[in-house]
This record gives sequence, structure tokens and C-alpha cells, in this order.
Amino acid sequence: MTTAAPSLSDVAPAAAAETILAVNNIEVVYDHVILVLKGVSLTVPKGGIVAILGANGAGKTTTLKAISNLLHAERGEVTKGTVEFEGQRVDKLTPNDLVRRGCIQVMEGRHCFGHLTIDENLLTGAFTRRDGNAAIKRDMDMIYDYFPRLRQRKGSMAGYTSGGEQQMCAIGRAMMSRPKMILLDEPSMGLAPQVVEEIFEIVRTLNEKEGVSFLLAEQNTNIALRYATYGYILETGRVVMDGAADALRENEDVKEFYLGVAGADRKSFRDVKSYKRRKRWLA
Ligand SMILES: Nc1ncnc2c1ncn2[C@@H]1O[C@H](COP(=O)(O)OP(=O)(O)OP(=O)(O)O)[C@@H](O)[C@H]1O
Ligand SMILES: [Mg+2]
Repeated sequence: MTTAAPSLSDVAPAAAAETILAVNNIEVVYDHVILVLKGVSLTVPKGGIVAILGANGAGKTTTLKAISNLLHAERGEVTKGTVEFEGQRVDKLTPNDLVRRGCIQVMEGRHCFGHLTIDENLLTGAFTRRDGNAAIKRDMDMIYDYFPRLRQRKGSMAGYTSGGEQQMCAIGRAMMSRPKMILLDEPSMGLAPQVVEEIFEIVRTLNEKEGVSFLLAEQNTNIALRYATYGYILETGRVVMDGAADALRENEDVKEFYLGVAGADRKSFRDVKSYKRRKRWLA
């Protein structure tokens, strides 16, 4: 009997397409003692959009930071498992080296430099590049084409722009490193539904037109499963379920616990308890 999480589809994304990112059974410990990720595995196909879903504290941010090697700043460490980007081990690289290879994280809370203009913020995203000012200028124009709102605000200090514009600025800045893959942490956080939709539409466009693969962490299961093709549900540091986005959206337990949909035959508390027991089995 295996303890692996149930998969809702027979074909894992890795089997269907070339894999750009593979996380293999990683364990993460903070402060040498706090075990937060307990054997997380996931894959992102080249050109895919994959979501990591889960409630507060499930381990979504920790998973992204483990991939992008940003855990050291948090006194965190990957103590087991491996991370492969384009088939090569990257778990011992610095975050900058990983950016040079084409994988970059957009942090939770859309960290822009508040005292710099939108234009200057975008420019800071090009710091790992060596291909000259003309190419950088071309890419700035491209970013403004994808984010017309940023073009309007290009001379404004980022700190005075709206939350949605700051999120766009953070994604645009990441795009300036010419990434093959973006790790996007909680893009919907604190934003109005319409703005969230606008941002996810741009993510989809960047994915389709620029071929950027995305791994996004979201508490907002509903929107994430509309734009991602595949999802992993994390609970207390473990993947408890994964599957194609459509299959997850139709799954009764996902509907009940993550989409907030209660059908006519709303589950009784006893069912809920048995679900929790089942989850312990899965864990
Ligand atoms: N630097 C740290 N030191 C110790 N524990 C931490 C640290 N950062 C996170 N944790 C703990 O690790 C667990 C996972 O946190 P993480 O931030 O990865 O969750 P999350 O799924 O991103 O949650 P949220 O939706 O709130 O952003 C939580 O229990 C959290 O308290
Ligand atoms: Mg988080």
C-alpha cells in the first residue's frame, strides 16, 4: 500500500509534456527544528500553469521559496529531496544563479520598491542581464504592451500606485529577467475580484505568447483552477490531492472544503469528521 496522495487523473503532467520543474520529495525545516514540508513532490510541464492550493500556513510559500533558494534568509533549509529545473539539480544554487537560468519568484505581498517609479522598478528586474540597453529597452516596451495600466503610471512612485498596479509591477519586473518560469506567490492577495481577473488574464497571455511556465500559490482555489491546468492541494506540509484542474473543480471534497460550494445534500458534520479521518490516512 502506498502513502502517496491520490491523483485524480491517470496522466501526471510530467508524462504528457516535457518537464521544466520537478520537485522531488522535499522536506523543509525552519530554525533547525520546525518541520514544515514533509515530503512534497510536484512537477510543472514546460509551458504549463500549475497551482499549489491550500489554506493559511499549509506550506505554499515555503514550497516556492524552497524552489527559488530563498529559504536561507528565513533560517529555513531543505533537508531532504531535490529540485530540478530543466533536468538539472538547482537546489544548491543561489537565487541569482537560478534567475540567470530562467526561474524567478514573485514574492507574496508584491514587493515593489515604493520610492522608485514604476519604470525604475521594471529596470531593476534586468539586473542579471548582460545583453545591453537596447534589448532591455525593447523588453520594457513589451511589458508596457502587456500591462497598459503600467504604461500610464510609468512615472509614478510605485508606493503610490494601487495594489493591482503594484502586483502588475512585480510581475513585470520578474519578466524583465527574461524568465522561462515564474513562481508566483498569492497574486490575488488583497485585491478586488475584477483586478484579480485582470492579473490572471495577463498571466495567461504571458504563458501563451511568451511561453513562460507558471507555478502559482493561491488560497483562492476558484480562480487558480480556472487558469491553471493542474493543481496540487497542500495541507500541513503535505500534498493531499492533485489532479487536472477540471477534475479538481468537480471533486466533491474540493468543492466542499476549498471552493465553498455546498450542494443540496450538504455534508453533515459526521461526514466532515470522516473526511478528516480519511485525510489523516492520506497523510
Ligand atoms: N521563517 C519561519 N520560521 C518558522 N516557521 C515558519 C517560517 N515561515 C513559515 N513558517 C511556518 O511554516 C508553515 C507554512 O508557512 P507558509 O508561509 O509556507 O504557508 P502558506 O501556505 O504560504 O500560508 P499563507 O496562505 O498564509 O501564505 C506555517 O506553519 C508557518 O508558521
Ligand atoms: Mg504564503
